[in-house]
Amino acid sequence: MTEREKNFPALLERLRPECERLMAQYEQKRSALLPIMHLFQKHEGFVSQQAMDAAAQLLGVTAAEVEGAVSFYTLLYRRPVGRYMLQICRGLACSINGAQDIMAYAREKLGVGHLQTTEDGAISYEEVECLAACDRATCAQVNLEFVYDLTPQKIDEMLGAMRAGTYGTAPMTQTETPGRTWAIPADAQIARGRKSRGAVDVADPNNAGGIGDTAGTLMLDHLINRDVYLFGRTSERAAIEPRALIEANDGRTDRAGH
Ligand code: FES
Repeated sequence: MTEREKNFPALLERLRPECERLMAQYEQKRSALLPIMHLFQKHEGFVSQQAMDAAAQLLGVTAAEVEGAVSFYTLLYRRPVGRYMLQICRGLACSINGAQDIMAYAREKLGVGHLQTTEDGAISYEEVECLAACDRATCAQVNLEFVYDLTPQKIDEMLGAMRAGTYGTAPMTQTETPGRTWAIPADAQIARGRKSRGAVDVADPNNAGGIGDTAGTLMLDHLINRDVYLFGRTSERAAIEPRALIEANDGRTDRAGH
């Protein structure tokens, strides 16, 4: 058991009043899930399994519901990360404004790639989807604080300040040493085709998109152009060729009993 794990029960008791205050702000206490996860992340530096289990208990929801919300947002880190989390936007507006060059520059300067942490454990790097600051593209977040109008010079200044300990945003708490990558093993299993039939053989179905990412179109191609027997509803195919779907299923009883 790590030191952080040993300390977790005490942390939970310390944060319980704040969790209760957050829950009381909403008509349904489950609505406090994200603020509570941010609270634990602030204190542990990431969202630990223990924090997710505690949140499920506090909110009266299932562990799967908590995991589903936490894994959806790049604002919540599911593994220990560096003291600085640099997340560069690769959405459309940023891409049009040169995000690919900025990301390549940042990767080169850091010596790490997407979802990786520098060897000294100081800086983690991720390429994320639209940060909703398109009017200031290209942009990024550092420890969830926005940085706008990125240029290579700005990246140099930012990384220099992070390494010198003078960066304007406070470093993250680090309760565990981060690994070199903070990708989740379960995501790799999904990449081997354990999630859905459309994702089979798609190298990285959990990749959310960006320049050069073909995961989405490959999965759609699997669903609409290949001889995939549909065991349940597949809205993508129904949207594109509803007649073919009806004919394909006509007279068949699907194995899921639908
Ligand atoms: S595309 Fe980068 S903020 Fe919207």
